[in-house]
Amino acid sequence: MDTHLVGAYEADGHEAIARIIRRHSTNPADIRQEALRGIDLSGATRLLDVGCGYGAMVEALAGRIRPGVEVIGVDIYCSDEEVFVARARAITGSARFICRRLDSRLDFPDQYFDAVIAAYSLYFFPRLIPELARVLKPDGVLVSLTHSESNFQGMLAAMGVSPRQSAMHSLLSRFSAENGATRLAEHFGAVESRPYPNTLVFRAEDLEDYLALVRFKLPSLLPAGDPALGRPEALLAWARELLARAGCVSIEKDDAVFIATEPRRS
Ligand SMILES: C[S@@+](CC[C@H](N)C(=O)[O-])C[C@H]1O[C@@H](n2cnc3c(N)ncnc32)[C@H](O)[C@@H]1O
Repeated sequence: MDTHLVGAYEADGHEAIARIIRRHSTNPADIRQEALRGIDLSGATRLLDVGCGYGAMVEALAGRIRPGVEVIGVDIYCSDEEVFVARARAITGSARFICRRLDSRLDFPDQYFDAVIAAYSLYFFPRLIPELARVLKPDGVLVSLTHSESNFQGMLAAMGVSPRQSAMHSLLSRFSAENGATRLAEHFGAVESRPYPNTLVFRAEDLEDYLALVRFKLPSLLPAGDPALGRPEALLAWARELLARAGCVSIEKDDAVFIATEPRRS
């Protein structure tokens, strides 16, 4: 497993980074609301969130599910439990967190869930896709969100790192905006793609936000084991210089949502 990549999401600062991303996005829409647009979950009784983290996606379900719906979140980081359960319980009485490493198997019966959510997580465990189809009811829905492989490409190029060398790129290429629909179509009869074009724009006065984002992202941008990872201050100085010289830095941040229905058993 890419522990140095997963670790990036463990940080308490994850929510602060999400706020920075929202503040500097050219796309004003909330992708989580875009993902759920038009999906009727009012009759759902059981819902699974794989790689749930601290429940950002469950929070977006407020007003869309009935109180009492059983929401189960699964994540490798046990420390997410308290926040996830508190957030899920705020919208449904019945929330549960399972701390385990997901790979290719789920311990749930066939056709158990009305909906499965996989928000920015399927690239960590793409071998789980057939299992998601198995545990969904025939009229169930998988809502998945992911990033484009082109994200941060300009910054990588400026650092002299080819996408092929980048740890983030190799992770994303397992389930990305570019290949997610094809991956899902192997196990679902219908897949709807909802592109989310976006760019992050930082001007000189945004230096603090920009450096916080770069600091957070650096471990995933560089190849695993890159000696520069041991010198984060030098990289931050380089990033600061880049913004000072250009006056404005634009960062590719396209995402995509895939809505998969008609699950097939393999
Ligand atoms: C980018 S975060 C997304 C979190 C959340 N779904 C959201 O939308 O904010 C990816 C999540 O997947 C979890 N994760 C990564 N690899 C995992 C694995 N093999 N099994 C279970 N969870 C994993 C991480 O701990 C992290 O919480």
